[in-house]
Amino acid sequence: MSNYFIKNLEEYFQVYRRSVRDPETFWEEIAEEHFLWRKKWDKVLSWDFTKPEIRWFENAKLNITENCLDRHLPIRKNKTAIIFEPNNPKEGAQYITYKELHERVCKMANVLVDKGVQKGDRVCIYLPMIPELAVTVLACARIGAIHSVVFAGFSSTALATRINDCDCKMVITSDGSYRGKKQIDLKGIVDIALEECPGVETVLVVKRTGTNIKMKEGRDVLLQPLLDKADSYFEVVKMDAEDPLFILYTSGSTGKPKGMVHSCGGYMVYTAYTFKNIFQYRENDVYWCTADIGWITGHSYIVYGPLANGATTVMFEGVPTYPDFGRFWHIVEKHKVNQFYTAPTAIRALAKENYEYVERYDLSSLKVLGTVGEPINEDAWHWYNNVVGNDQSPIVDTWWQTETGGIMISPIPYVTPTIPTYATLPFIGVQPALMDEEGNEIKGNQVHGRLCIKFPWPGIARTIWGNHERYRDTYFAAYENKYFTGDGALRDEVGYYRITGRVDDVIIVSGHNLGTAPIEDAINEHHAVAESAIVGFPHDIKGNALYGFVILKEERESRDSNELRKEINQQITEQIGPIAKLDKIQFVPGLPKTRSGKIMRRILRKIASNDTDNMGDISTLLNPEVVQEIMDNAL
Ligand code: PRX
Repeated sequence: MSNYFIKNLEEYFQVYRRSVRDPETFWEEIAEEHFLWRKKWDKVLSWDFTKPEIRWFENAKLNITENCLDRHLPIRKNKTAIIFEPNNPKEGAQYITYKELHERVCKMANVLVDKGVQKGDRVCIYLPMIPELAVTVLACARIGAIHSVVFAGFSSTALATRINDCDCKMVITSDGSYRGKKQIDLKGIVDIALEECPGVETVLVVKRTGTNIKMKEGRDVLLQPLLDKADSYFEVVKMDAEDPLFILYTSGSTGKPKGMVHSCGGYMVYTAYTFKNIFQYRENDVYWCTADIGWITGHSYIVYGPLANGATTVMFEGVPTYPDFGRFWHIVEKHKVNQFYTAPTAIRALAKENYEYVERYDLSSLKVLGTVGEPINEDAWHWYNNVVGNDQSPIVDTWWQTETGGIMISPIPYVTPTIPTYATLPFIGVQPALMDEEGNEIKGNQVHGRLCIKFPWPGIARTIWGNHERYRDTYFAAYENKYFTGDGALRDEVGYYRITGRVDDVIIVSGHNLGTAPIEDAINEHHAVAESAIVGFPHDIKGNALYGFVILKEERESRDSNELRKEINQQITEQIGPIAKLDKIQFVPGLPKTRSGKIMRRILRKIASNDTDNMGDISTLLNPEVVQEIMDNAL
């Protein structure tokens, strides 16, 4: 029991040391004492980062939903599992107990099986943040189907790519969705996507907005009538600990999105254990993570981590600015939220509004404030700490990734002293290393390098769907025997980590990972464009915004530049989604390239950031003359 809930710094160091000295025994104890297994493992861990192959709790059998639902019923059946807070506050919240959630998941599981979904099949979920999203995710897990949730802000093209990449046979969506004042035609987006997806046999449609939709005969079915008829019990399908639980796509610096595959056993243990400690969750607390379940944060820390701990988790359908800038704080007051977890972008956006929006509400229930997704700047950290937390609630700056499954570096609140902008110490069982560019580990403190992890933890993704080679090349090829994160970090004089940002061509905009390659591909599809390059530049609210350098096929004399900019952004919206739109588009005669033809993004980044005093060595460029011209016309 003692290892499960860390209460002070001394205990953290003690448990951390144990977890590193003997990881197998450590994780075995956690797994054994706090989870329900249908069959125990033969071996705790087998691993080889060169292949790479990682197996936790080998040959163990379980079902994660039994851990998230069934086992709570004897003690928590009337406890609220999910508080659903709709987009429109006038609609009123829904409180779903563990018993009701169990029933809804079972009914959904029966519907899925009736519709022919079997263990191992892939099911694409394209839903807004409504209870059916959590229910469907859990129902897939209950029957052993692999869910692939696609964020409902992605375009039809992006959706189609993800459906086809893992051959989903079913899509679950809704007629529409609400986001603030806007209503979005989700079913229409799915219809367009499915023109390119011959493998999809069935589309289940949840009614949310009540808008008129087209139903394709033989393919599309309304969900509710099926649920009404479904049996309210479904016996779990026993899963192997290493069976895939879900696929979640994340952008890479090149190529198509990577379908990260997470396992049933290790993922469960890791998300549950990190949740309990990093949010110091106590029975009867109300926990709220503002992320969307379409991202890993929502998977791990709205659904699986909280429910595995029998927690009450809030699901919010709307946006922080609707009906006004006080919405988050209104919800905190209304549901007496104790742990609040959001992204720096949201904090920055709200911090620039009138203080009155926060002051109006009673936030005294808050005990822990979390942040995730991108580096938090000092001003935002202080505003969060002072204005929202009233200097009473520790901030947990949690660093992790889609690939890591759960939080990797973070303070434990009330345990780890915090410093603004520092993710502080590795979580239990996490062994970070900083590497130099030659591949050597940089030992000691007060150093900066590329962040790697030296030893597997239970939540690590096991592969990229359908492309194990890419998994190896992306994460395990740069540094021998280490998982490479793609981030840079510094370790200060006491061993605290501060994440300094990506060292590859992934750009984080408003906390969303965007690879440059897919955006450039989208731009290049515009008939007037010959070539393009995207870089990030600092933005007050979004953290980074996108700057596009675009070469046109012909001189643009006859074209209105602003019209063309709009068309390019439209092209991006259609191919990827509005989150990838460019803030600035500069038409250029050429792009700075090395002699081998590689675009020198370092130079473009400096121009975009208006930091051109020291451009470094540009003599090796094939076309150095173009740099001055781009600089002279920079936006
Ligand atoms: O660059 C890091 C940044 O977000 C990346 C992972 O993005 P994604 O897979 O979308 O997962 C986001 C939610 C876990 C990381 O490689 N990042 C995440 N958290 C932090 C962060 N950068 C700085 N500080 C953080 N707390």
